[in-house]
Amino acid sequence: MPVPTLSPQNSTPTSTAVAAAAMTNETVPKTAKLTLGDQEIDLPVMVGSEGEVAIDIRQLRAKTGAITFDPGLGNTGACLSKITFLDGEQGILRYAGYPIEELAQKSHFVEVMWLLLHQELPSAPQLSQFTHEVTHHTMLHEDLKELFQSLPKVGHPMAVCAAAVGALSTFYRKEGPHTREQNWIDAIRLLAKMPTIAAYSYKHSIGQPFMYPRNDLSYAGNILHMLFANPCERYEVNPITARALDLLLILHADHEQNCSTSTVRTVGSSGANLFASVSAGISALWGPLHGGANQAVIEMLMSIRDGKRTAREFMELAKKKDSGVRLMGFGHRVYKNYDPRALILKQACYDVLGQLGRKDPLLDIALELEQIALSDAYFIDRKLYPNVDFYSGIIYKALGIPVDMFTVFFAIGRMPGWVAQWLEYQADPEARITRPRQIYMGPTPRSYKQVAER
Ligand code: ACO
Repeated sequence: MPVPTLSPQNSTPTSTAVAAAAMTNETVPKTAKLTLGDQEIDLPVMVGSEGEVAIDIRQLRAKTGAITFDPGLGNTGACLSKITFLDGEQGILRYAGYPIEELAQKSHFVEVMWLLLHQELPSAPQLSQFTHEVTHHTMLHEDLKELFQSLPKVGHPMAVCAAAVGALSTFYRKEGPHTREQNWIDAIRLLAKMPTIAAYSYKHSIGQPFMYPRNDLSYAGNILHMLFANPCERYEVNPITARALDLLLILHADHEQNCSTSTVRTVGSSGANLFASVSAGISALWGPLHGGANQAVIEMLMSIRDGKRTAREFMELAKKKDSGVRLMGFGHRVYKNYDPRALILKQACYDVLGQLGRKDPLLDIALELEQIALSDAYFIDRKLYPNVDFYSGIIYKALGIPVDMFTVFFAIGRMPGWVAQWLEYQADPEARITRPRQIYMGPTPRSYKQVAER
């Protein structure tokens, strides 16, 4: 599958952040001066390996009594990480230095999992051993099936998956310190069992028997088998479908400190185990402003296809603040340029639909929305471009994945990122429990009055 490379649409540095990022180790000052009233303090300046400049404010409160205010944490680096680099102005994404375009074209999901976990590509024996491990831990404890069966069939599969992943703690995790060995076993179990959990959540919703995993299939092939096979018929995995799914999983594998990954790190910072931390991450991913956008996008496209409004009418609504409508799959906290994953997925829509001999009017609607957005001042001025969720649903749909399973597939893809980030946090000697401060704006002290006096 050919993978396009990005030619930045907005590569001129327009903000001080971009200008700072362009500094080199030699030109960046060693300290930043802060003046607060008559106090003046020097704060250390840090530079990341890709030139990201950060002011280390760890001593700020101790030295001045003041704290910082950054709702949504858009200007806050919460950790040091070696896993993923992204430059939102240039539209660059790399896993441990390897460009996403190259991995999408040449690698496969299991290898990418290892890359994220170790920040190195595996040797042949390492890859073979790791593939064996994630293939041979795919079964769930038989008693866990009862958890699925106890939940309403109409429940959203993300809720079911969050519950089942949390429940893994009760089957596989002894309380006690998180040793490296125990963490690794937990990591393998989670990476291996997530597809089974995902497939069971779907099979339960449609009242079909759970299909056991098949160890002779690839990671993606096995997911398709557990989702679409039934005990009465032979099921052959279509290699085009399996490759397309593998590509989707690679593209979703990590995205540094996004909402769900920050959640996983935050929960892990309290000492909670990996299963509990990732269960919280799945819940964070479910929201429509995050991973849940892939489902919301396809529903938006279907509403236009079904004549609820035209694409132009929808776009007018998306620009009105009080309409409560947003162009789903557009905009990103970090990307102020085309999300490189969206670029790959847009091309993959053509490739996969072509290879499967399908047409989908939703692709034409998505292209029309994109074309309107990219020539409309509202979207241009705010630097709103397609994100990973804009085109992914069209591919999931072509593969036969049900709409309410789209975000579950995002979760399967994101699992190695969550696990790698959680493991990195655990190994960080400077890691502390996550505990932001606040600026209290409520009532000042007052005396309690008995209810009769109020
Ligand atoms: N449609 C219309 N307007 C938008 C959109 C959109 N999709 N996204 C942002 N804007 C506008 C905002 O209203 C705001 O306008 P203003 O400056 O006039 O107030 C401006 O652009 C900046 O947007 P914020 O919401 O402040 O940006 P933020 O970084 O907080 O949010 C987010 C990013 C949540 C992704 C937002 O762009 C959005 O809601 N997009 C649609 C949902 C979506 O696709 N989410 C998936 C993101 S990718 C992922 O998580 C996997």
